[in-house]
Amino acid sequence: MKILVTGGAGFIGSNFVRLLVESKLAQKIIVLDSLTYAGNLQNLAGLEQQIEFVHGKIQDDTLVKSLFEKGITHVAHFAAESHVDRSIHEPDAFIETNIIGTHSLLKAARAAWKDFAGKKFLHVSTDEVFGSLAPHDPAFHEKTPYSPNSPYAASKASSDHLVRAYHHTYGLPTLISNCSNNYGSFQFPEKLIPLMIVNILEGKKLPIYGDGKQIRDWLHVSDHCAALLKILQNGVIGETYAIGGRNEVANIDIVDSLCDILDGLMAKDTGLKSRFPNCPAAKGASAKTLKHNVADRLGHDRRYAINADKIESALGFSPKENLKSGLQKTVHWYLENEDWWRNVLNGSYRQWIEKNYLDRGKA
Ligand code: NAD
Ligand code: TYD
Repeated sequence: MKILVTGGAGFIGSNFVRLLVESKLAQKIIVLDSLTYAGNLQNLAGLEQQIEFVHGKIQDDTLVKSLFEKGITHVAHFAAESHVDRSIHEPDAFIETNIIGTHSLLKAARAAWKDFAGKKFLHVSTDEVFGSLAPHDPAFHEKTPYSPNSPYAASKASSDHLVRAYHHTYGLPTLISNCSNNYGSFQFPEKLIPLMIVNILEGKKLPIYGDGKQIRDWLHVSDHCAALLKILQNGVIGETYAIGGRNEVANIDIVDSLCDILDGLMAKDTGLKSRFPNCPAAKGASAKTLKHNVADRLGHDRRYAINADKIESALGFSPKENLKSGLQKTVHWYLENEDWWRNVLNGSYRQWIEKNYLDRGKA
């Protein structure tokens, strides 16, 4: 396959590109990424010989057309604005990239692929398009009606509908995945898990929205990427696959687990204590002392959960990481990659995060 990976310098996209390189399944890998605050060429370091990186926007019709002219047979479309809090404060970019950008790619694929045989367009989406579950509701599945609540979720839902329509109307060979919350290496520290890890290390407050009892269904990014590769190889054209880890956990329990992991590591490693002197465990206290209840997110979805029966039975998918092993690995990755997170958190973006999430006062 000759594959175009959009958003390949972001969190999940860069993990997917690494997996793709390891798999040796692709003769050509082109990564198209506009390098927003969430995209970072360091995420692709070491892969320079195996990929062609193109700096640009998916909405740039001329650029995208020129990339398809290089013989692209497959698309893995990750590029998106992806953070719910940002979509609440500044929704325009979500409409521009997630909706208009996806439509540009669909138009370009349709125009370039005169013959659809051997072609595949995988659209990477989210479980947030389905809305919010009550405590005893059955988990989301491929037939759950769409009910997006945030501007982010609505923009992803719109893009899913466009992809579906291009298959139904023009026969474009599309695949859609709707995955639950990911975590792991290279995740920008604005999302719950990496934000909590770096704040614990720096001795900063851990902002817990509302009562902290909102539930997410966590999947390690390596498992999500493995599922996507299976879909790309063996998924049935025109179909949708729900992907999840069967790991429903309340936010407050995630935060407590991260505090416990870092308290434990600090207790037995004096080197860590001197590297992170502001971490409570370096001073004999628990990271839990940093927990700080703040006003709830507007329109906050209460619970997400995925019924992964279809991808498990049709494509033989099962996650390799459980939450315990995945969180341990993730904490170690952030400890070993301090330069990475300090770099991505420098300057104005850090100030934006602090203004919008960290300093908004107690609930
Ligand atoms: P991310 O924010 O880390 O990365 C997005 C990437 O897209 C960045 O590299 C950014 O520079 C790039 N990008 C943004 N706008 C662009 C544009 N107009 N043109 C080209 N590139 C652009 O996001 P992520 O967490 O890696 O998510 C990737 C995809 O997976 C998204 O489509 C998201 O909706 C979906 N998803 C994410 C999760 C999750 O938990 N993070 C779960 C399910 C699905
Ligand atoms: P997030 O990682 O932003 O993912 P999503 O909103 O896509 O699920 O948030 C995960 C959950 O954690 C969500 O319920 C919001 C909550 N949260 C906090 O309580 N504090 C925080 O600082 C962040 C970033 C999220």
